[in-house]
Amino acid sequence: MSNTMKASVTKGLGQGFVVEEVELAEPIGHEVRVQVKASGLCHSDLSVATFLGGEFPMVLGHEVAGVVTQVGPAATQVAVGDHVAGCLIQYCGSCVNCLSGRTHICLHPEATLRTADQPSRLTWNGAPVAQRFLAGFAQEALIHENQLAVIPDEMPWAPAALLGCGVLTGAGAVLNSAGVQQGETVVVIGAGGVGMNAVSGARLAGAEKIIITDIEDDKLERARAFGATHTVNSRTTDPVEAVREITGHGADHVFDFVGVRPVTAQGIQMLGKGGGLYLIGVGGTDAGIDVNVKAISNAQKVQGVYMGSSNLKRDIPFFASMYLQGRMNLDDLVSKEISLTDIDSGYEALKDGHTARVVITDLS
Ligand SMILES: NC(=O)c1ccc[n+]([C@@H]2O[C@H](COP(=O)([O-])OP(=O)(O)OC[C@H]3O[C@@H](n4cnc5c(N)ncnc54)[C@H](O)[C@@H]3O)[C@@H](O)[C@H]2O)c1
Ligand SMILES: [Zn+2]
Ligand SMILES: [Zn+2]
Repeated sequence: MSNTMKASVTKGLGQGFVVEEVELAEPIGHEVRVQVKASGLCHSDLSVATFLGGEFPMVLGHEVAGVVTQVGPAATQVAVGDHVAGCLIQYCGSCVNCLSGRTHICLHPEATLRTADQPSRLTWNGAPVAQRFLAGFAQEALIHENQLAVIPDEMPWAPAALLGCGVLTGAGAVLNSAGVQQGETVVVIGAGGVGMNAVSGARLAGAEKIIITDIEDDKLERARAFGATHTVNSRTTDPVEAVREITGHGADHVFDFVGVRPVTAQGIQMLGKGGGLYLIGVGGTDAGIDVNVKAISNAQKVQGVYMGSSNLKRDIPFFASMYLQGRMNLDDLVSKEISLTDIDSGYEALKDGHTARVVITDLS
C-alpha cells in the first residue's frame, strides 16, 4: 500500500487550504488507517485556520467517514473493511471519568495522540505536518480507534460524515446533557447546522413542543423539515414573550447555539420552573451570562455543554440507525458536495445562510 496521498495543507494563519502530496506513516498501537470517503467542513476548522492558529503546516478536518484499510497491532475495536465515522472527542478509556461513562470529559485525552518522541503521523517534503483534530481533509487519515465508531455499510457517506460532530453536539445536548423527556417543551435558539440536530434530538425524545428561534425566516422554515413545531423570528417578535405564550409557563429546556450575551440572557428568561439552559454556541470571546440568583430561584439551572455529553461508540451508531429508519433528517443538512481542492470556496459558500453543511465527497 502506498503511503503517499493527497491532503489539503494549511501552511499558515489565513493561508487557506492547498492540496499537496503528503506521506502517511504506518499505523502503530491503536491507530487505524482510514480511506476517507466524506469529510465535512466545520466552523471549528476554519477558526483554527484563520485566527486560532497552532503548529503549521497542519492538516485540519474532523467530520470524517470512510473505510478501514489497515489497523495497528493493538487495535481491536475496528477491522479492515469496516465503515467508520470519526469524532474529535479524545478519550483514554481508563481514567475515572471514562470509567464512569463520561468519555467526553476524559482526563487524559492525549492518550489518542502520538507522543513527542514518536515520528509524526504526517510528513510533507520530509518535514512533520501537524495533524489537527483528525486531519480528515485528506484521502487517508491515521486515527486512534477510540475516535472511530463503526457504522452500517448502507449508511451513505455524506450524512455519515456529519454524525461525529454536528449530530452528536446538537442531538446529544438534548438526549444526553439535558435528558429531555417525552411531553416536555424545548426551545432551540439558532437554526444552524448544529441547532437542526437539536430539533431532531427533541423529536426523538418525544418533546411535545419544539420551538426554534432564529433571525432568518428561511432557516426557520427549514427547521420544520427537522421537526420544529413552532418557529419564532426573534428579529420581528420578542422571543421571550413568544415562548411564554406558546408554553404557557416557560420552557423545560432551552438550548443556546448562538452564544452572544443578549441572546443567552433571553434564554434564562424563557425557562419555566425547574427548567434548564444549555450553552453550546460560542458567538465570540465575550460569550457569557450574568445570572441573577432570583431569576433562577425556581430551581432553574445553567449548564455548559461539550460535544453533547456524547459517548461516540454508542451514539454515532444510534444516530446512523435513526437516519436509516427515517427517524432523523440528515439529508437536508448536506447542502453542497465538493472536491478536496475546493475547501476555500466551500467555506465561502457556508457564509451564505442557505447552506447548512458542505461536505467533501470527491477525494480523487
Ligand atoms: N460546544 C460544542 O461542543 C460545540 C460543537 C460544535 C459546534 N459548537 C458551536 O455551536 C454553534 C452553532 O454552530 P452552527 O454550525 O449551527 O452555526 P451556524 O452559524 O450554522 O448557526 C447559527 C445560527 O444562529 C442564528 N442566529 C444568529 N444570531 C441570532 C440571534 N440573535 N437569535 C437567534 N438566532 C441567531 C443564525 O442565523 C444561524 O442560523 C457555534 O457557535 C459552534 O461553535 C459547539
Ligand atoms: Zn465540527
Ligand atoms: Zn479517560
